[in-house]
Amino acid sequence: MTRRRFLEKLCIGLSGVCAAILGIPLVGFVVAPIFRKTTGKWISVGNITDYEVGKTVSVAITDPSSLPWAGITAKSALWLRRVNDVDFIAFSVNCTHLGCPVRWLQDADLFMCPCHGGVYYSDGTVAAGPPPKPLIRYDVRTANGQVQIKTMAIPITTTL
Ligand code: FES
Repeated sequence: MTRRRFLEKLCIGLSGVCAAILGIPLVGFVVAPIFRKTTGKWISVGNITDYEVGKTVSVAITDPSSLPWAGITAKSALWLRRVNDVDFIAFSVNCTHLGCPVRWLQDADLFMCPCHGGVYYSDGTVAAGPPPKPLIRYDVRTANGQVQIKTMAIPITTTL
């Protein structure tokens, strides 16, 4: 083997090593979140005493299924109602039509979707408009004086 040939092979080999050193962590960073299980965990959304019986309030959460680079798009919310001293109900904020955030109107006792006029009763069932099914509910429990929500991917469905 000539000296020139040896240096060529050495350069190619070192280039491959450098590409692997830089590329493997990058590929891992991009691919790993796809296989990460982040839903089905119980997260605290505050003390039981923070919530008034009979009131439905918006609670900010972070979408646990979002990718690390999702940024502000991972922020979401749910509607949480304290039914009595021990029971809570939590509704997804996303309309089941095309996913717009619904608003709770206390005086009307309804959830309203601003996008296409979807209306839901206070129990989340459809009252009017295009939503094909009731608001999605989160599992809720109380533990150690805290209200906890069982995480899930943001339940957006389409009828398209
Ligand atoms: S997205 Fe709510 S009615 Fe269309």
